[in-house]
Amino acid sequence: MDLYLDTADRAELEPLLATGLFRGVTTNPLILARSGVRLDEVPDLVAWLFVHGAGEVFVQTTTESADAIEAEGHRLRGLDPRVVVKVPATREGLTAVRRLSDAGVPTLVTAVHNPRQAILAASAGASWIAPYLGRVSEAGRDGLQAVAQMVRVLAGTSTRTLVASVRSAEDTVRLATDGAEAATLSGAVARELFVEPLTDAAVAQFSECLPSLGARVGG
Ligand code: G3P
Repeated sequence: MDLYLDTADRAELEPLLATGLFRGVTTNPLILARSGVRLDEVPDLVAWLFVHGAGEVFVQTTTESADAIEAEGHRLRGLDPRVVVKVPATREGLTAVRRLSDAGVPTLVTAVHNPRQAILAASAGASWIAPYLGRVSEAGRDGLQAVAQMVRVLAGTSTRTLVASVRSAEDTVRLATDGAEAATLSGAVARELFVEPLTDAAVAQFSECLPSLGARVGG
């Protein structure tokens, strides 16, 4: 499973990107608002992200008609060849994604909440879909089951699943088990992946042995 970071907060992103374990960063208007980033600051954010280790940056369109989304998609792609254009799974958005795909622009269909939208995204030639796992579950549906069905629906297509709205490290494990190709995680969930008290205890034991082995302390 490839891991991405779902935040635009530079202070949160820098240490996590420095691990080299996260392939890129996903953004949308909500993520930007949560991090206090204005739309006219997105080009600087994108440049900063690539300098600090992001391999891909996903930037979302903000317009509503297919024509406007298509034009905005080309503009966003023009920021950097490593930018992937995110488009909400509306009828107009999917229409624009078909046009952008035909023009060779990589896209992600986002705010996906059911397998029907996954079928439509594949028909539009999207590179990715982003199911909102947490929100599907919080709406009273079986989110993990819905995402697993989306993965099955997309088998044999060129559209991959990058799960968003992920609430825990455990859900991340379950998504990987169910075949999702990627997940984008908040800083908190990303940091949760690293937590394991048993590993900490084992490392403490290793350190306690070192002096008896003649190792220099703090080496
Ligand atoms: O990228 C998805 C994110 O913006 C929505 O997730 O946590 O608000 O459900 P959340």
